[in-house]
Amino acid sequence: MEIIKVKDYEEMSEKAANIVIEHMKSLKRPVIGFATGSTPIGLYNCLVKKYQQKEVSFKHATTFNLDEYVGLPKENKNSYHYYMHENLFQHVDIQPENVHIPNGMAEDLEQECMTYDRLISKNKIDIQILGLGLNGHIGFNEPGTSFKSRTHIVKLDQSTRKANARFFQSIDEVPTKAITMGIETIMESKKILLLVSGKKKADALATLLGNSDISEEFPASILRQHNDVTVIADEEALKKINE
Ligand code: F6R
Repeated sequence: MEIIKVKDYEEMSEKAANIVIEHMKSLKRPVIGFATGSTPIGLYNCLVKKYQQKEVSFKHATTFNLDEYVGLPKENKNSYHYYMHENLFQHVDIQPENVHIPNGMAEDLEQECMTYDRLISKNKIDIQILGLGLNGHIGFNEPGTSFKSRTHIVKLDQSTRKANARFFQSIDEVPTKAITMGIETIMESKKILLLVSGKKKADALATLLGNSDISEEFPASILRQHNDVTVIADEEALKKINE
């Protein structure tokens, strides 16, 4: 794993945007995997800015998001469809038919997972953005998820629902289930860019970068087996590494 140490959230976002753009420019039809949550918002802001400055175009890009809550319609402000539209897609020249986000409202959720996974297998992801969960989750693959998992429905950990309750009126409104790309699906991405910022993430990052075992109890540990992972972490997140 390559580790890029940066000062703060802004620098992390800027570096990440530069890496994504460079990668996009090197490919005719780039396939990008996006994440949601607080971590990549700065990256999306930078991408929008650089699009406006004509440094990048999304015209030929195809995108796949990691996950979506089950039971939230696209128009719901907490859905990841809404998030992506608000933070990135409405501001750039992406073709709507090239945007893929799991449909958490599908009547047949199992079928939705299979269809989504097959589509990713057909359009290999060139660069996948990831955030790091406090418990080591990637996507919504909670501790204990099989490293062999493909896109599937998950029951969200109480700790994850609590961490995400900040976006909702109350924790009771946080969905209990989500659709997520599986760990094996994520690992098939050609390149992975993991963004980690803030002191809240220091323990999780120390576990990831420490010498602990690669274990399903800490899903992100599998990234150590991928041959092209770049971690961009800021000083606060790295605090527990050199202690
Ligand atoms: C989001 C996702 C999650 C988040 C993780 C960190 O699509 O899949 O794994 O990346 O929960 O979330 P934040 O960035 O809010 O700390």
